[in-house]
Amino acid sequence: MTPRDFLSTADWTTNELTALLDSAVQFKHSINPARPLAGRSVALVFFNPSLRTRASMQVGIYEMGGNPVVLEPGGSSWTLEHREGAVMDTDKTEHIAEFVRVLGRYCSAIGVRTFAALKNWDEERTDPILKAFAKYAGVPVINLESAMHHPCQALADMMTIREKLGSEPKRVVLIWAWHPKPLPMAVPNSFALAAAQMAHEVTIAHPAGYDLDDDLLAEIRKQAAQAGGSINLTNDIDEAFADAEVIYAKSWGSKNFYGDAAADIAARAQYRDKWIVDEPKMARTNNAIFMHCLPVRRNVIVTDGVIDSPQSVVIDEAENRLHVQKAIMARLVRG
Ligand code: CP
Repeated sequence: MTPRDFLSTADWTTNELTALLDSAVQFKHSINPARPLAGRSVALVFFNPSLRTRASMQVGIYEMGGNPVVLEPGGSSWTLEHREGAVMDTDKTEHIAEFVRVLGRYCSAIGVRTFAALKNWDEERTDPILKAFAKYAGVPVINLESAMHHPCQALADMMTIREKLGSEPKRVVLIWAWHPKPLPMAVPNSFALAAAQMAHEVTIAHPAGYDLDDDLLAEIRKQAAQAGGSINLTNDIDEAFADAEVIYAKSWGSKNFYGDAAADIAARAQYRDKWIVDEPKMARTNNAIFMHCLPVRRNVIVTDGVIDSPQSVVIDEAENRLHVQKAIMARLVRG
């Protein structure tokens, strides 16, 4: 049975994800003019900034006949508490227990963006705010990027690979890149997971000490084995680029320095010139496409020469957010 929520692609089978991709292609080519959200509203709750996610969700809901209700806790709506049993005598005005159940009386689904705060690894790796939404919502919850997952981005990434290179498994490389400060792991987590579910030959390349979460890596390996793909981990950036068909760049913070940005910044300084996607490295690939979820820092993560080259598919990748999210909403709301 299809899960009620879209929190992580791990909750969905490869066949279900493939069906979502097929539906997204239909939406993209206007083959599916149905308006499954006609007369319905979808809440979009943003604890953090966004361009692509917010705009594509609003446009997608509108184009499917629905009404997006955008809320920003602490801005346009009340500050929110998520801890069970909290004594709310500080700055939090409303508990998620009421917030989410009330929204469920108005809306057919709830999307939520809640980034990692990069303070407490043991707590944040469990995605507590996303889980509180899923616990209390009486309607489907869509993860619009949580501390640990960005499944809508990952599905758009899989659609883009299929669109550019076909359905057969590819040699896909997730490459860590230097960035001036530590960033959350949601995008690399979800990309690696979805690529494993799609049976790609996945290489995850990062400097020593920048490993993904152990439990998540175990899930990625399990999914790859079930789908017939493979997972290779390396700290060697030159090995990673050789013969790659997809280069997916992303920076993320180290678990070892979680909550201590200054220590992470000091540790990563040595990687600045080496861990960047540039023309010489791309020349060693098998004519790979270049992917990034955006926003991206030019000439830090990737050179102008790569992101502006014909191999770069970042704008198509961003467009595909719209189509996969329509497919997800149509599936969840139809039931
Ligand atoms: N890729 C992505 O989620 O972009 P935004 O942060 O702009 O929504």
